[in-house]
Amino acid sequence: MVTITFIEPDETQKIVESTLGLSVMEVAVRNNIQGIAAECGGQCSCATCHIHIEEPHFKITGAPVDDEEDMLDFSDSRKPNSRLGCQVTVTEELNGMIVRVVGDE
Ligand code: FES
Repeated sequence: MVTITFIEPDETQKIVESTLGLSVMEVAVRNNIQGIAAECGGQCSCATCHIHIEEPHFKITGAPVDDEEDMLDFSDSRKPNSRLGCQVTVTEELNGMIVRVVGDE
């Protein structure tokens, strides 16, 4: 199990537990995290799962992949630590990760 802290768009903080192998988007949806609409169901085509990942965990998740990069380019809320939650897989190394939900897509 891995613990992830989500900070919703209104700053509400929710700490949840996740099994390995899920995407961060799936974890958010399963735990009713506000601001993650996940309209495309994880196909990397809607950007409604836009998140900012705090360090040190952003470095571990790595840079966005090609399609993800294209989707993030459309966002006014793009930051250097932006990712799409559906493209980040929960691994042991992400235990303790803090995720800010953008929620304005
Ligand atoms: S759920 Fe649509 S891009 Fe992530």
